Amino acid sequence: ADKVRESFIEFFRDGNGHTFWPSSPCVPHDDPTLLFANAGMNQYKPLFLGQCDPALAMAKLKRATNSQKCIRAGGKKCDLDDVGKDVYHHTYFEMLGNWSFGDYFKEGAIKMTWECLTVKFGLDPERLYITYFGGDEVKAPGVPADEETRQIWLKYVPPERLLPFDAADNFWEMGDVGPCGPCTEIHYDRIGGRDAAALVNMDDPDVLEIWNNVFIQYNREPGGLKELPAQHVDTGMGFERLAMAMQGKQSNYDTDVFQPLLDRVATLSGKTYGRADSKPDVAFRVISDHIRAVAFSIADGQLPSNTGAGYVIRRILRRAIRYGYSFLDLNEPFMHALVPSLAGQMGDAFPELKAQQQLIERVILEEEESFLHTLANGIERLEARLNEFKSTKVLPGDVVF
Ligand code: SER
Repeated sequence: ADKVRESFIEFFRDGNGHTFWPSSPCVPHDDPTLLFANAGMNQYKPLFLGQCDPALAMAKLKRATNSQKCIRAGGKKCDLDDVGKDVYHHTYFEMLGNWSFGDYFKEGAIKMTWECLTVKFGLDPERLYITYFGGDEVKAPGVPADEETRQIWLKYVPPERLLPFDAADNFWEMGDVGPCGPCTEIHYDRIGGRDAAALVNMDDPDVLEIWNNVFIQYNREPGGLKELPAQHVDTGMGFERLAMAMQGKQSNYDTDVFQPLLDRVATLSGKTYGRADSKPDVAFRVISDHIRAVAFSIADGQLPSNTGAGYVIRRILRRAIRYGYSFLDLNEPFMHALVPSLAGQMGDAFPELKAQQQLIERVILEEEESFLHTLANGIERLEARLNEFKSTKVLPGDVVF
């Protein structure tokens, strides 16, 4: 997986004149419209809007690339309920990205995307399906269907693998307000040797979106869409999904991004991860996903708390503890014991994990002790009450309250 990340950056930095610009923290310190960084483009918002302070180094960027730390567990982009139940959504994930700030546009972006996937990474072109914006007068009034993008793609793929969709899939917005535009997505068929066009955007675990190229031309304002002074490119590829494709695995969790964490959960619980669709397997995935969101948030300065982003982090941590408690018999603190594996595995790419390792372990342990205490007491009290009202099978509202 480290090689996948490095190869992507190498392609854009060394091969295509992009500046490596480090990931911003996964908890933004300067954007009140976001709880978490939900996409690589967030930190460049002032550049897209033409509002970047010219004295800042960022103002000089024409092309940039990185792997951004993202969390989608609260706010407009929220995947929390799916995480662990399927094998390709995450609370915390990395988004490999390249950006153009008023430099190349659709033609250049699509060419680089195609070369990166089919030459640099050597993915089979026959397994790639492309979606583009087909128009949507309700959600993106006045924005025409993206025929230009379709024409450019026809140089690379046959028409039957080029599919139009409405704004829900092909007009990308970071939140209620902010830079946005029509997008073109690349979907990968994990099986191959067949026509999978009908499975695109159908939540099929074998045909997944891996990369999104957004052509930023508008700003969403409370009153509607406003054209921006310049045209930009914002792309984002799911690092864990690309790793899955490159490693020929069936699930993101079967890659070396998650295997060390799953192994550690197996050791701590004495159970095995069996790839069956059973509750213990969901618990394995929930835990090895959630530890990443919690650890990276704490490393970036966001501790669990009662409000805002801190409360989302507390809920994520408690969801993991509850799954461990209920389905893996983990009734002593265990989440903190995963941190050394995570820091060992990712600490080179993200040194903040190693630098903050002790703090992360301590904060998680304290949260675990307090929540396990609440959980044990609560379950005991609930069971007593359930027994008491067994005959009526109704728990009265005041008791629940
Ligand atoms: N911002 C777009 C996305 O998150 C592309 O990076 O999908």
